[in-house]
Amino acid sequence: MRVLMVCLGNICRSPMAEGVLRHLASNRGIDLEIDSCGTAGYHIGSPPDRRAVSNMFDHGIDISDLRARQFTKADFSNFDFIVAMDTNNFDDIVALSNSDAQASKVKLMLNYSSPYENQAVPDPYYGGDEGFEEVYDLLLESCKAFLDQLETSA
Ligand code: 4NP
Repeated sequence: MRVLMVCLGNICRSPMAEGVLRHLASNRGIDLEIDSCGTAGYHIGSPPDRRAVSNMFDHGIDISDLRARQFTKADFSNFDFIVAMDTNNFDDIVALSNSDAQASKVKLMLNYSSPYENQAVPDPYYGGDEGFEEVYDLLLESCKAFLDQLETSA
């Protein structure tokens, strides 16, 4: 299974989601291919935001080697799950799809974890460090639930 995490800039939420899912999958012995990208191209080639790197480092996960890239239509073929951090990202990706099969690969991250259905992983870019901790907590819970669902359906 191949999972693509998507946010706007690919320097805060989606690289954190990639790191959290990688960590959890590896702990559970689940073989997943995981990547992340942004719907926007502002930060192509950049490492994750230093506050994201620092928060994840405090949780024992190193995401410093990740580099931002932008979503491309080829990602519809290259991934089984395309997981959007908020509804803008979700809508932007669905708008690029060419078929129902492609559109149905697009999921909303927090729809995996109750009670946060249809809510956004909040964008921490313009806030303080506490925003990154909130993102981490939400991602930990939703990525655990994602893996639970994957294991149940396997
Ligand atoms: P992300 O956060 O989508 O979680 O990576 C953002 C990063 C950069 C910008 C916005 C959100 N920006 O406007 O540059």
